[in-house]
Amino acid sequence: MAFTIAIDGPAAAGKGTISRAVAAHFGFAHLDTGLLYRAVGRKMLEGTDPTEAALALVPEDLQTEGLRTADVGIAASRVAVIPEVRAALLDFQRAFARRDGGAVLDGRDIGTVICPEAEAKLFVTASAEVRARRRFEELVAGGAETDYQTVLNDTRERDHRDATRADAPLKPAEDAVMIDTSKMDIDAAVAAAIAAIVSRGATAGEGTA
Ligand code: DC
Repeated sequence: MAFTIAIDGPAAAGKGTISRAVAAHFGFAHLDTGLLYRAVGRKMLEGTDPTEAALALVPEDLQTEGLRTADVGIAASRVAVIPEVRAALLDFQRAFARRDGGAVLDGRDIGTVICPEAEAKLFVTASAEVRARRRFEELVAGGAETDYQTVLNDTRERDHRDATRADAPLKPAEDAVMIDTSKMDIDAAVAAAIAAIVSRGATAGEGTA
C-alpha cells in the first residue's frame, strides 16, 4: 500500500523532527529531501558542476558526513534554484514517495510539485527569529562558532531565495494543513501533525517500512 505524507516548510521550522516522529508513528519510510540538495551543494563546493552532480547522485551520497553545516546549507539553496538540478532529482523523490508501506518526504515543494497527489500534506512553519534561535542552538551544540545575528541573516537570506525562485518556490499547497510551531514544543507539534494525518486517512502502524 502506498500512502504519501508531504511535509513542507522553511528551514528550522521543525519539519525534520516532526517528519521522523511521524514516520516512526505510522511505520513509514522517511526521506529528508533537503539532503539531496545539500549533497549536490557540497559537490558544487568541491568543484563539480551542480547539474552533473545531481544527475550522478546515488543514495550513498546522502550518508556523507558534513552535509548539515551552514556552508553546505547555503550552497544547497544556491543549487536549488537551478531547474536542471530540480528536474534531475524528481524521479528519485517520486519513486520514494510511492514505495510500498508508506512514505514521509520533507522539503520545500513536496506537496506542490513532487507529490501533488499526496494523501496528506502539512506545511510546518515558525517565525524567522524562532527558527534562527533553534538553528543557532543546534550549530553551537554541534561545536560551530557563530552568533545569533549571523544565523538570523542566513535564515532570512535562504527564506528569500527559497520563496522567490522561479522554479518550485516555497509555498504551502492549497490543501496543506498549516502548523505554526513558534509557540509549540516538539510534543505538541508532533501531536498536531499526527492528528492532521489521521484525519486524511492514515492509521498508526500500517506501514511495513
Ligand atoms: O531543509 P534543508 O535546510 O536541508 O534544505 C537545504 C536547501 O535545499 C534549502 O535552502 C532549499 C533546498 N530544498 C529545496 O529547494 N527543495 C526541497 N524539497 C528541499 C530542500
